Amino acid sequence: MSLNFIEKLKKKKDVVVLAPMADVTDCVFREMIAKYSNKSGPDIFWTEFVSADGLNSVGREHLKIDLKFNKKLERPIIAQIFSSKKENIINAIKLVYKLGFDGVDLNMGCPDKTIEKQLSGSALIKHPAIAREIIEASKKVVDDFNNKNKKRFFSFSVKTRIGYNKIEYETWFPNILDYEPDIFTVHLRTRKEMSLVEAHWDLSKEIVDFIKKYCKENNLKTPLIILNGDVKNVEEAREKIKISGCDGIMIGRGIFGTPWLFDDKEYNKRLEQNLDTKKGKDNITFRLKVLMEHTEKYEKVLGKHKSFNIMKKHYKAYVNGFDNAKDLRIELMLRKDAKEVKSICNKFIKEKLN
Ligand SMILES: Cc1cc2nc3c(=O)[nH]c(=O)nc-3n(C[C@H](O)[C@H](O)[C@H](O)COP(=O)(O)O)c2cc1C
Repeated sequence: MSLNFIEKLKKKKDVVVLAPMADVTDCVFREMIAKYSNKSGPDIFWTEFVSADGLNSVGREHLKIDLKFNKKLERPIIAQIFSSKKENIINAIKLVYKLGFDGVDLNMGCPDKTIEKQLSGSALIKHPAIAREIIEASKKVVDDFNNKNKKRFFSFSVKTRIGYNKIEYETWFPNILDYEPDIFTVHLRTRKEMSLVEAHWDLSKEIVDFIKKYCKENNLKTPLIILNGDVKNVEEAREKIKISGCDGIMIGRGIFGTPWLFDDKEYNKRLEQNLDTKKGKDNITFRLKVLMEHTEKYEKVLGKHKSFNIMKKHYKAYVNGFDNAKDLRIELMLRKDAKEVKSICNKFIKEKLN
């Protein structure tokens, strides 16, 4: 991707991007999303987060599977990494660049205790000096790449939350904005809130205004501002862009069970039909065919690297909202490979949908 895709997206009014989700948005699911979105998006793909410390360890080869992507279908794509060790982050960025990604993103929002113990993810909100050090070093590496190769643009971004125990974005965000990231993604919750309360859309306009004002007053480049939290589909994303004044919306959990989400016409059509058992037969069959395709690809590409049980999160979402869905879900939870899953789904299609 030689063009500066950020400049292009800044002009677009309804940017909707795919969230990084560990053990969900892996290379197989992202490829399904690219295929079923019918070229409608997402405007940016994010990988699941990858440990920069791990990428610098003997276990590196095993982790590289999380940095696999389809160079044609998944564009632009940003690799997300986490660590609190500057040297490891720098090396990981160099690797990500070499692998052909369009950008790198630093995770400063993950609330998982094992990540926080490494002083990474959300823990960096409590340690702004370390965060600044990492961001400054990362930005320098990325700037060097872009200065050396004018034909290829590589973006630098950060994803974070609005505070740790309390809402404190006015003191926290400057630690990031001072280094002029190309993209700034804000999950509208604090670390303490995890995902247990509703995202603070009531504060969205105030937060976007703060970012813009801070950048302007300090002569800093304003990043592509992306907000995140509880947005279920593209239509809702457009509304949120209007009310907040942000550039784009990141969708996470909304993608579960609907890899066609970014094609909003397709999404709305299928949503209307889904619960109606008579009209919904084709729709349910379609879902089960997508489920089978997803499972087969997963087994082929990731079967040797990851547990088959990861697919079961997807089954819960694909098999939902229609007659006999619960029984089918229970059956699928017991299966151990793609062959078994296919046989159960085909039996359901034959016996219940014909
Ligand atoms: C299963 C799961 C895994 C996640 N993994 C990551 C991750 O690797 N990196 C990250 O920045 N956020 C991660 N998140 C957070 C999401 O990117 C997003 O910020 C959050 O789910 C809120 O958005 P949503 O309401 O649209 O899902 C994860 C969330 C879920 C549910």
